[in-house]
Amino acid sequence: MIAVGDAKLASIVADFPILSHPTSRGKRLVYLDSAATSQKPQSVIDALVEYYSDYNANIHRGVYEIAARATDAFEAARAKVARFINAADTREIIWTRNATEAINLVGYSWGLQNVKSGDVILTSELEHHSNLVPWQLLAEKTGATLRFIPVDHRGMLVLEDVDTLLRGVKLLAISHVSNTLGTITPLEKIVPRARAIGATVLVDGAQAVPHLAVDVRALDVDFYAFSGHKMLGPTGIGVLYGKRALLESMPPFLAGGDMIRKVEFERTSFNDLPWKFEAGTSNIADAIGLGAAIDYLDRVGMDWVRGHERELVAYALERLAPLEARGLAIYGPKDPALISGVLSFNFADIHAHDLASILDTDGICVRAGHHCTMPLMEKMGWPATARASFYLYNTAADVDVLVAGLEKAAAVFKL
Ligand code: ALA
Repeated sequence: MIAVGDAKLASIVADFPILSHPTSRGKRLVYLDSAATSQKPQSVIDALVEYYSDYNANIHRGVYEIAARATDAFEAARAKVARFINAADTREIIWTRNATEAINLVGYSWGLQNVKSGDVILTSELEHHSNLVPWQLLAEKTGATLRFIPVDHRGMLVLEDVDTLLRGVKLLAISHVSNTLGTITPLEKIVPRARAIGATVLVDGAQAVPHLAVDVRALDVDFYAFSGHKMLGPTGIGVLYGKRALLESMPPFLAGGDMIRKVEFERTSFNDLPWKFEAGTSNIADAIGLGAAIDYLDRVGMDWVRGHERELVAYALERLAPLEARGLAIYGPKDPALISGVLSFNFADIHAHDLASILDTDGICVRAGHHCTMPLMEKMGWPATARASFYLYNTAADVDVLVAGLEKAAAVFKL
């Protein structure tokens, strides 16, 4: 049970200005949609304001003082990312707009260079569209085929036959944490086997880096993609980690300024890593903002974040259990050790969108719909689910408000 008066948690909540602003109905904001996007602490907001008010300038170009300061802050943020995920080298960190763009970069650059007709791309039935549609497009272009690691009725990947599934696989593209169910993929059971047969491994870590301590070298993955906005940072900034030798061998994804070394009328030679993959003016402010978000997560500690979310999920499962007799169906493995801070559910025959609208009247924000995982929803037979997702600033009191909101919905629908 979470210590309600915990001083560390209270000071974290106080760092997020939005959490102290009442909703238009005068309710306390109970934000349970951090899997869609996280809230931002004041230090991240301040970093953005400081850049725009004090040293706004383009990077890698100007020789004047504020341009040098902007370049230093931008590259320092890259170094923070490298350290945060334990990359060997800052050159292995490529800025993108988000995890989706990072995955597409690999599809277009590495994929078109390496994937051939008859090759197999192995992914899973749990994937977000962003780690499925790019591979469908690559398969269409190259003549490769897609294969899927199945998911069982609990929302766990079925790994008994993983060696058979891996036969002939060129690329394993898999999520670290499911955005719909929170299921944590046991990468340690799959990645070494994929590597043993020479497959390249890409992990979609959009729902993992914000919530778990991630070590890309210990995981021994080739590519790892994630977004800044789900980990307290701004929207519009994401990261592709890639092993240096692989990135060196890949052609540019986009072409233009900053990614060149020498341009002649007929030909161009390209810049060194990581800039070879960063054409045009980068998202300077938001990269610096993501650096501030990483500073914040470092101060809190990722072990604390994970421990806190486990406690919240355990508490939520305990508080929600009595509602199961009235038709509440909670999906995914109901074990806090196996999931991150995500609970997907339906309540009797109330449509998930109606449920989310009723909860909204009490200031409770949950996402409803297919969560960009239409094939998973289809397989499970769920037209839609409501999803509550927790983060470091959520409290036991938030869970209590959610439970009260669901009881109110039960009363409205006479369950
Ligand atoms: N991928 C985000 C989510 O799951 C938007 O809500």
